[in-house]
Amino acid sequence: MLKQAPRTKVTPERASTAGRKSAAITMRAGTFAVAGAVLSAFSAGVAHAVDAKALWEKHCIQCHGADGKGLTKMGKKLNIRDLTDPKIQAEATDEKIRANIRDGVKDATGKIRMKPAENVTDAEITALINHVRKLSSK
Ligand code: HEC
Repeated sequence: MLKQAPRTKVTPERASTAGRKSAAITMRAGTFAVAGAVLSAFSAGVAHAVDAKALWEKHCIQCHGADGKGLTKMGKKLNIRDLTDPKIQAEATDEKIRANIRDGVKDATGKIRMKPAENVTDAEITALINHVRKLSSK
């Protein structure tokens, strides 16, 4: 049973594609329903959907860059360390990052190095910390 017969006819895989497609459509309809629910909860102010990537892009990317390596114009000017570096990841505890996002980072002379993020909730800061953690694996 080493040789396989050449597959010339419609294989079972191909035959099942149609079935899979309709399943995908059903799933998509479900996603719309969920998205609608999230949206209405959002506008009602009940739940706050947190999009870590969007937050990162709004508050952090200008200095730290999309990949967290800090190779932006601002990053280079401020001599920002590479957030993907495991050593820095280990040094920066969640509490420290939280405090730095909330209160900013100053140098020894009291000059602001990283400004506090404005209008972020605790939940958003948590999402940003998680985002920072994800940078390390890239
Ligand atoms: C104005 C530029 C700037 C912006 C904007 C900025 N940072 Fe920073 N960040 C810095 C500088 C400067 C340091 C300190 C030097 C270093 O650690 O390389 C720093 C340090 C850090 C560190 C290192 C570990 C620590 O906490 O000490 C983390 C993590 C961090 N920032 C996360 C963020 C997050 C998340 C945001 C968005 C909410 C952000 N930064 C926005 C400039 C910035």
